[in-house]
Amino acid sequence: MLQCSPSSSLLLGLALGILVSSAPSLLSCFRESSSKDQSENDPDSDFIKHGIPDLIGHTPLMQIQSLSAATGCTILAKLELANPGGSAKDRIALAIIEHAEQKGLIRPHSGDVVYEGTSGSTGISLAMVCRAKGYRAHICLPSDTSVEKINLLEKLGAVVEKVPPAGIVDKRQYVNMARTRAAQHNASSSTSRGLFADQFENEANWTAHYNHTGPEIFKQTQGKLDVFITGAGTGGTISGVSRFLKPRVPGLKVVLADPQGSGLFNKIKRGVMFDVVEREGTRRRHQVDTLVEGIGINRLTKNFAVGSAFIDDAVRVTDEEALAMARYLVENDGIFAGSSSAVNFVAAVKYARKIGPGHTIVTVICDSGARHLSKFWKDAGSVGGEIGLDLDSILK
Ligand SMILES: Cc1ncc(COP(=O)(O)O)c(C=O)c1O
Repeated sequence: MLQCSPSSSLLLGLALGILVSSAPSLLSCFRESSSKDQSENDPDSDFIKHGIPDLIGHTPLMQIQSLSAATGCTILAKLELANPGGSAKDRIALAIIEHAEQKGLIRPHSGDVVYEGTSGSTGISLAMVCRAKGYRAHICLPSDTSVEKINLLEKLGAVVEKVPPAGIVDKRQYVNMARTRAAQHNASSSTSRGLFADQFENEANWTAHYNHTGPEIFKQTQGKLDVFITGAGTGGTISGVSRFLKPRVPGLKVVLADPQGSGLFNKIKRGVMFDVVEREGTRRRHQVDTLVEGIGINRLTKNFAVGSAFIDDAVRVTDEEALAMARYLVENDGIFAGSSSAVNFVAAVKYARKIGPGHTIVTVICDSGARHLSKFWKDAGSVGGEIGLDLDSILK
């Protein structure tokens, strides 16, 4: 259904490249005549990006061929892994920093430090954006965070502080520790400042998706979509996108994809935050009891709360289903996705089967499988065997 434009924009880019090198005056003519059709601030009209912040956002939307053919629905994925830091978290890292700059809380190249507690991609995005904009990053994370994420953070020049895994009520828990470190910085320094990024509660998170991710999806689909489906970690993506799209897309259903062990599924289905693995004595892991990283949570955050009224339904996904889907996408489409993306696709297929063929479903590839090699992908089994997986054997 989409008239995808990457090839035509590539051709246009090549043609313009030739014009730039041979006839600058022709280029200015082109710019003058085409400016009527393009919005003043359309970054696609720029040929040279000025640093990392300029590269954030405007990610492609791709049809997933295998899942679309198998379900009869058009299943589209917003490729957030195409951001320069490899995930959607680049958007919120930039928004949080720019918001703090506008409020006068931090200033580039003044020794100011951004503190965050994150076991996921937010730390990597913050470390990258901090370096690009003249700040330092201090990331607190649980000591069982995957080794590739820790290595990446260190190579991006962040201070990495590993703390023992603990519940959110524990003051040594990694989010609480980051808040404490920022406060300690401010108490001890008169020359520089510490900012607690606070991705779970900071409204610069969901508003980044409201201002950018949502409008991009609307433009890329020309407003023709029936379902938006994704998981929630902080809730920023689902809240921001749904708040933008719901009033503009009549009949749109917003669906939460939730991994096992997360309380959000029951929050949406029954209004109660609870998962059966939370029963006393049954919890196996310190946080949400799943192999999946980045989504699923057992507390209500501000970024989820601002969008929860816009969420129509929820789909539960087991680790087993997510692992099988991750393999399926490699084997059928060459897509090497992270664990939360695999959850999104399982949920998209389950929902497609529920509503039947002929619908357009948009979901998100949050990050690459490369971030999950030592944990999720280690359990995925061998890939590329002679007997391929079929969707019926994936969905429980
Ligand atoms: C890999 C990954 N996928 C998805 C999400 C969920 O995004 P959000 O925090 O906007 O709910 C996160 C958030 O941490 C993540 O790290």
